[in-house]
Amino acid sequence: MSHIRNIVVLTGAGVSAESGIDTFREANDGRGGLWEQHRVEDVATPEAFARDPDLVLRFYDMRREAIQTKQPNPAHEALARLDREWDGDLLIVTQNVDDLHERAGARRILHMHGEHLNAWCTACDVRCRWTGTLIDRPACPACGEAALRPDVVWFGEMPYEMDRIFAALREADLFVSIGTSGAVYPAAGFVQNAAALGARTLELNLERSQGSHWFDETRLGPAGRIVPAWVDEMLQ
Ligand code: APR
Repeated sequence: MSHIRNIVVLTGAGVSAESGIDTFREANDGRGGLWEQHRVEDVATPEAFARDPDLVLRFYDMRREAIQTKQPNPAHEALARLDREWDGDLLIVTQNVDDLHERAGARRILHMHGEHLNAWCTACDVRCRWTGTLIDRPACPACGEAALRPDVVWFGEMPYEMDRIFAALREADLFVSIGTSGAVYPAAGFVQNAAALGARTLELNLERSQGSHWFDETRLGPAGRIVPAWVDEMLQ
């Protein structure tokens, strides 16, 4: 481990599964993932928002309320410990829109798909912290317009801070992917980018992901068990 100084960690819905937040695809409780319960085309595209804003706003109001009742799990806590104690570079790039990484204490974190607890004004482009509902079309705190939408990156929209992510991948000695199915790009391609730039690559997941074959190493198991074990290894 001595030669590893700069780490990029990518997290997905699997890291929050043990906190009781549904994953998007094939949740392991027989109920099916979120996208088995709701059609992406109905709730997670700009077209859906234009067609039926009430359906979309109600869907995200429900998610925003639900995540505020959940708690970080040992995987979030272990990554927060790594953030506190790792003296090399570290960037946690999360695809998740919940705030469990931050509530566990992580600070070097980037939400590439946005955040449930933010609202985005489509009139003045301001983003603001938002824990309530949007269905009643509340006024934007900055410009007063009733033009707030969830600050979540929908399918067909550009993820956030891609330049910062690639800059970190360029410097990375180690790329670690946790709790993601490798179904959605550009995140699913980061392992190939990191490997091409010379980083060692490690996957921590409940089951092999669609991109497992790109990783130098894959460890299988629930994040709440295998992430703390990996962090202990890194900090010993
Ligand atoms: N521990 C570790 N991994 C787990 C656990 C667990 N307890 N539970 C599930 N997983 C794994 C699953 O095996 C699966 O590979 O987490 C992965 C979750 O995959 P998805 O549901 O596809 O979620 P994710 O990869 O984060 O989705 C990517 O797709 O829907 C869009 O924008 C959304 O950010 C999301 C993106």
